[in-house]
Amino acid sequence: MQSLCCCAPCLFGLEGLAADELRRMGAQQVQAENGRVLFAGDWHTLAAANLWLRTAERVEIVLGQFNAATFDELFEGTRALPWEDFIGRQNAFPVKGWSLDSALHSVPDCQSIIKKAIVERLRGRYHVAWFEETGPALPVRFSIRKNAVTLMLDSSGAGLHKRGYRAVASQAPIKETLAAAMVALARPYEDSVLYDPFCGSGTILIEGALQACNVAPGLRRRFAAEEWDCLPAGTFAAARDQARAQINRQAPFRCVGADLDPAMVALTLQNAQKAGVAGRLQAAAADVAAFAPTTPRGIVVTNPPYGERLLDVQAARELYRRMGAVMEKKPGWRYAVISPDEQFEEHFGRPADKKRKLYNGMLRCTLYLYFKG
Ligand SMILES: C[S@@+](CC[C@H](N)C(=O)[O-])C[C@H]1O[C@@H](n2cnc3c(N)ncnc32)[C@H](O)[C@@H]1O
Repeated sequence: MQSLCCCAPCLFGLEGLAADELRRMGAQQVQAENGRVLFAGDWHTLAAANLWLRTAERVEIVLGQFNAATFDELFEGTRALPWEDFIGRQNAFPVKGWSLDSALHSVPDCQSIIKKAIVERLRGRYHVAWFEETGPALPVRFSIRKNAVTLMLDSSGAGLHKRGYRAVASQAPIKETLAAAMVALARPYEDSVLYDPFCGSGTILIEGALQACNVAPGLRRRFAAEEWDCLPAGTFAAARDQARAQINRQAPFRCVGADLDPAMVALTLQNAQKAGVAGRLQAAAADVAAFAPTTPRGIVVTNPPYGERLLDVQAARELYRRMGAVMEKKPGWRYAVISPDEQFEEHFGRPADKKRKLYNGMLRCTLYLYFKG
């Protein structure tokens, strides 16, 4: 089977987690870089990566990498690549990308040069003057950093954070990929009880349940590559069958959500239903001050309101104080709280056992981890 060089872009701070996920699924030559992980594999690896990656944003096939400081170099470098191995005569191939710290800084110009070079290459192979682009899309992605050009085909289509369970979100939802990372860093077991006292649309709890029960997060959605003629028939169907067989239905894992807003509780329950984990999840309206879990052990993973968006900073800090009062240091309990507030620990009332820098969109945050009981 054709060997592929792939790239999985991810949020800054999640490279190590995404690389671990890829190694666990058998990807080769896994190499974490800033904001992305490179790996090698075949079409099966690509399908598995799309279905299973929890912390990466998409899966791309790397067609080539070269240096270009002029439009001529960009054109020639692009034209030299074997686009016809993937793009058929009828396929659409929209081009999108970005450029940073490079001589070629105009993204629209780079976009049109790359498009022209691919058309030129394909004309030579298919002997047609005009491409209708009426078939399935093979979105072309480019990145140019310090004059180093990477050209890729996006096999995912919609970003991998779109699992298909969260059509409606809360006012300040956390991205599914970040929620999955927070849960992974808090290390739940298949028999854990996971709590989120600020559950909003339920993302953290749902990601926790999917992880604990070994459900592939992409099982309920489709991917761009499924429509491609160059993909060997049955690749995704086989990967889905394998993923279904690997679900751990016996896991005693449970999760418990709460939110001050009853509409958010209803949303959490609705999204859990869509994600197929409603049987493991309960949620009720409550103020965090009333957090009083009845289980002897548990893991709290949460993103309380930040001053920036929902409340002002002082109100957020008052919430941190209330959280600290109810989230006691005791054996069997672990807490993971994400916040952009560098004084979080002071207001929560005790220093974290471990801290991890994460980005919530453009916002630099810290995941404060408390695991010593
Ligand atoms: C940043 S959002 C959480 C988003 C959630 N992680 C998601 O993915 O949708 C914070 C949530 O805390 C809730 N909230 C605000 N104050 C609260 C309080 N005192 N007790 C419990 N929940 C509260 C808000 O209603 C909001 O849904």
